[in-house]
Formats: sequence, structure tokens, C-alpha cells
Amino acid sequence: MSNDAVSAVINVDIEGPQISKHVYGHFAEHLGRCIYGGFYVGENSDIPNERGIRLDVVEALRNLDIPNLRWPGGCFADEYHWMDGIGPKEDRAVMINTHWGGVEENNHFGTHEFMDLCEMLETEPYISGNVGSGTVREMSEWVEYITRDGDSPMARLRKQNGREEPWKVRFWGLGNETWGCGGNMTAEQYAMDARKYATYCRDYGDNKLYRIAAGAADFNYSWTKTLMEQLSHIGCQRVERKLYNAVSVHYYTIAGTWDDKGDATVFTDDEYYTTMLKANRTDELLTGHSNVMDLYDPTKEIGIVMDEWGTWWNVEPGTNPGFLYQQNTMRDALVASLHFDIFHKHADRLIMANIAQTVNVLQAMILTDPDTGALVLTPTYHVFQMNKGHQDAASLRVDAPKGIPTREVDGKELPMVSVSASRKDGRLLVSLSNLDASEGQDVEIDLRGGGLSEFESLILTADTLQAHNTPEQLEAVAPRAHEGVKLEGSTLRVHLPAHSFVTVSGALA
Ligand code: AHR
Repeated sequence: MSNDAVSAVINVDIEGPQISKHVYGHFAEHLGRCIYGGFYVGENSDIPNERGIRLDVVEALRNLDIPNLRWPGGCFADEYHWMDGIGPKEDRAVMINTHWGGVEENNHFGTHEFMDLCEMLETEPYISGNVGSGTVREMSEWVEYITRDGDSPMARLRKQNGREEPWKVRFWGLGNETWGCGGNMTAEQYAMDARKYATYCRDYGDNKLYRIAAGAADFNYSWTKTLMEQLSHIGCQRVERKLYNAVSVHYYTIAGTWDDKGDATVFTDDEYYTTMLKANRTDELLTGHSNVMDLYDPTKEIGIVMDEWGTWWNVEPGTNPGFLYQQNTMRDALVASLHFDIFHKHADRLIMANIAQTVNVLQAMILTDPDTGALVLTPTYHVFQMNKGHQDAASLRVDAPKGIPTREVDGKELPMVSVSASRKDGRLLVSLSNLDASEGQDVEIDLRGGGLSEFESLILTADTLQAHNTPEQLEAVAPRAHEGVKLEGSTLRVHLPAHSFVTVSGALA
């Protein structure tokens, strides 16, 4: 049974702000099996690899056109001393990964390996520097090591370690969650520290850093306010650049509590709706932080970088609680598609977003079997793939003049349909999610200012919201052609089955 059709209007000739491709960004932390076993298996592994990096993982991620990869953390970043991860592997220092399972970290995956991985992925590196337990000098020298051309102590050290040319790195994080695992600082304390770190992270040659200050948890707008205030107080008049270019924010979708977050694959409809309500709060979150920033930066030169987002469930039974390994269902896919609609809406301020995390941790794109090495693409992976045409496209407003059906969830109204659209290179891409667990929904889109000469449509859904992919069932949730779309003149009629994600793309006439 379907509800009445939702009427929507898209003016395809009125372009909104460009959707930064970096909102489709990724995150790889030294946590559980994300790096070791996920991205990196070492040169001697039976799993096909190049210089230790898994080729199947690289191929799968290249299919997503991933724009950037954040590393080495997360909480790990503020315990990471980069010099431990360079030089001959057998000489590298071993440390304890205190945040994540208390396991030994042998530092075999370090700066060179990460930059190598980024080159293989054809993606931009985003390095998160250590503020919590590091020093300004240490971070400054890391920038010099990676990006400085010519002769200098750190450039010489890099060359001794086999890399003649400097790498290019734009995105540079000044700490992570400095209100918590990154040093337990107050906003004022961190804001002053960030000014120092930002000063000494230099631009070498034509490498221009985009410095990202460690931002707030969730709805802590006062943290953002403090960072913005500090940014306005330029000390020395000779400073030509901004101290930092963006502030970050982290927000996880947790349906339960921190102590019992809920099961990734066993859940009720009520728990599903609570999850979607929590995910939908990302809109409120970005609006709130952006409004605060508007007071200090009305022209929106400082960006928001939401460098951790996604679902966080209880770990899979029998796995190390510190490894954050969780399955990924159709519910996770809808969390992702809803986030992207919200990200597109905030294209004027949101510069980057990084899902946590890319492989084997939290809301992953890829799961690898620890015993056989088998690789599984998750439902979330497919959302990234179906949506990749939005990267760097002009956002288009989607209006629903007669409203969108809602459902009361935990005392709040949750819209049951979410839509976003963009145009790029003469093509229109519309993404539609039906969040209703059990009812289908028709959507009629009035395309104004241009029509479509042809179109194609894909759908991601499954019999149940709990459906997920495993090595035995790789395609339990996978995109397929969607027959439920008709183009009648300038009206696009789209049928959305219960709990489905649909994309329609076509050439603009
Ligand atoms: O993504 C897992 C952890 O969540 C990160 O290390 C930390 O930044 C956040 O609390």
C-alpha cells in the first residue's frame, strides 16, 4: 500500500552552492582491523597486495572516487608520534594503542605507507596531527618532512627514507576531540593552543595547508563560538593568512546509550525509527554550528569539517570490544543517504565530512574476514557509489510545497521521505530515500527550467531493514535497476518501496 504521492519541485536551472566532493570523505584510524588487516596486510601476505596495501580494498574504494582519507585518528592521532613510523620497519618503535584494545602497534604503517596508499587511491590525504601528547615542534617538523622541497633537516630525512620529492598535503587537522581523548582541554585552552600549532604548521613552496581546528562534540555550540572568537583575534598584523580555515564537529548516530548502543543487525521498527530521528538531527547540528559561525564569519570563509559521522552499534558478538567491529544493514544505508541529503543542503558551509570508518570499524564501507580475508561491500558502500555524481556538483533546491508525510518518533516529527538533487556536466542527479519501514511512497517531481532527454534509475533495498552482506551472501543488499520511475513531460514519477534508497540520473535537455 502507498500513501498519497509527495509533490516536489526542482528548478534545474537555478544552481545553489557547489557540493564539495570532500563531503564524501573517509577516515582510517589505527583502530581494530581498519589499518592492519583492512588496508594493510604487509608484503608477505597471501592476500594480493602492493607494498603491503590490499589491492582489492584499493580497487573497491577507487570505484567510489573517494576524495580524501583522514589518518591516523581519531583518538589514536593524539598519541601518535610520527617519527616512530618512518625508517626501516624492523627498527620502528612499538607502542601500546591505549584507546583501542590495548594492543601493540608496531608502526609498520606510517607516513610513507599512508602517502603511498593515498597515491594508489588517487585521493587527497588528510592528516590529523597530535596536539594532546605532542609538541608544536613535532607537528611543525612533520609538515616539513612531508611537504618541504629543497634542502632542510626534515626534507633530508625524508630523502634518506627513500622519498626524494615532497608530497602534497592540503588538509591538516590540529588535534582531535581535544575536549576528550585529545587532551581533555577546555575550549579556551585549546583555542589558544590551536593558534600556536596553526602558526608553526608552515606552507612550504606551493603547498598550502588547509588547517582544521579540532571542533565540538555534537551540539556544543559554545566550543565553536570560542574557536571563532579566537580566530578573530589576530595577534600580529603581519599574518597574511587565517590561522585556521575550518572547524570540525563530530556527531555519531547512536540509537541507544553509550553503554548499550543497540545491536547492528537485531532491532525493532521502533529502534529503527529512533535511529533515523537521531541521524536527522545532523541537520539541526549543522544549522546550529553554522549560525554561530555566521556571527563571526558572515561570508562563510571558514568551513565546517564534520570529520567523524556515522552509526555506532555494540560490537559484533565475540569480537574485541576495543575494535569497534560492527555489521552494516539496510538501516545503515538509509542513515548514510539521509546524511548526504543534509550535507547537500549545507553546501554553503560544509567543506568536508568523513564517515567513521572506511574498513572494519563502525559504519564501514568494507568488511574483511579476519580468517579468510574475504572482502564484503556493505550497504553503506553502495550509497556512496550511487551518490558519487553529487561530488562537486551544483546543489539544487528541492521544495515540497504540500509538505512531506511525517511520523511521530520519540515525541518528534520525523519526515518519512528525504530528497536532494544536483547538476553537473549537463546531468541531473536526484537521490530519494523512503524512511518508512513498511509503506511504499510515490514522489512526483516537477522539473522546472529544463527537462530530461533520458534517465536511468537505481534502487537499493531489501526484504528487511536488517538485511546485510556477508562472505556467503555478498549481494543481499546491492543496487539494481529500478523500474518504478516514469518521465511524463516534465514530471518525474518515482515509486519508492518501503525502506529504499533510489537515484535517478539523466541528461538535461
Ligand atoms: O571513530 C572512533 C572514535 O570516535 C575516534 O577515535 C574518536 O575521535 C571518536 O570519539
